[in-house]
Amino acid sequence: MQYLIHRGEKIPLIGFGTYRIGITKESKEADTFDYGINEFGMTLIDTAEMYGKGLSEKFLKGTVNKYDRSKLFIVDKILPSNAEKGLYIESCKSSLDRLGIDHIDLYLLHWRGNVDLRDMVNNMEYLVKLGMIRYWGVSNFDTYDMEELFACDKGSNCFCNQILYNLTERGAEYDLIPWCSEHDVLTMAYSPLCNSHSTRITVTGDKAIRAIAKKEQKSPEALMLSFVIRDRNICTVFKTSSISHLNNNMKNVFEPVGKDDIIELEKKYPPPTEKYPLKKI
Ligand SMILES: NC(=O)c1ccc[n+]([C@@H]2O[C@H](COP(=O)([O-])OP(=O)(O)OC[C@H]3O[C@@H](n4cnc5c(N)ncnc54)[C@H](OP(=O)(O)O)[C@@H]3O)[C@@H](O)[C@H]2O)c1
Repeated sequence: MQYLIHRGEKIPLIGFGTYRIGITKESKEADTFDYGINEFGMTLIDTAEMYGKGLSEKFLKGTVNKYDRSKLFIVDKILPSNAEKGLYIESCKSSLDRLGIDHIDLYLLHWRGNVDLRDMVNNMEYLVKLGMIRYWGVSNFDTYDMEELFACDKGSNCFCNQILYNLTERGAEYDLIPWCSEHDVLTMAYSPLCNSHSTRITVTGDKAIRAIAKKEQKSPEALMLSFVIRDRNICTVFKTSSISHLNNNMKNVFEPVGKDDIIELEKKYPPPTEKYPLKKI
């Protein structure tokens, strides 16, 4: 594994997503997580109370408890409807119970919703004080949301913004990623493999992309991941329930993509030339 350092924390550049994990009783999912942690050091794990209405967190309990807690960096997300006064402590406690741990490393507001940001910041800060979470952050926040957040007292304590970002979705490069970087907010990319089967197949089946991947001695999926982490200032989480997909995706993933090949990739998937609203899944 390779890491980035953010506010003194060593964060794996690549970790596991858990969307749709633990929903069915597939024992191979647990094996995949063990394999990823032991073989690749994928100790960054992203989940949410929303995933399977708590089933993904429950599934993770089995995995998390096999490892030294201090070696894992667990990201969880609270629903906007639960981020309000009177609900957020119970919500966080329920997530901790389902995960079988006593603290979450990074707790994110899943999306903006109608949440009062001042209240949200106060609530998150209180959870830090209680020791239930170590850091808090947000997800799916566009630049104007971040500006509003930073106008709140202690809003700048926001550790991370988790956003949709991949080879085919580069809109955030225009101003959001630079804004976060200037304000010391970590960008964590979700859906680095495009989430949807059809979009992923369009990319990985493309002749030009396959040729670049071959030249780089990576699978097309590993090329997509390498692209997202190319500047070593963004980390990412992808989902797989399969060990063979994991091996495929991690093949040479930390070998930097050559400048010429980045130019070739950009011919297919150019960077944004204007501001688009941040896309969300
Ligand atoms: N904050 C948010 O609002 C938000 C939104 C979406 C996602 N997320 C987080 O980000 C994580 C990752 O995003 P994602 O799950 O949406 O999408 P993703 O990681 O881009 O793609 C996951 C899909 O790719 C498939 N896949 C992986 N490797 C493959 C390979 N080598 N060959 C073929 N298929 C492959 C997986 O199926 P297999 O299991 O069969 O490999 C799965 O269906 C999520 O799990 C979640 O933790 C956050």
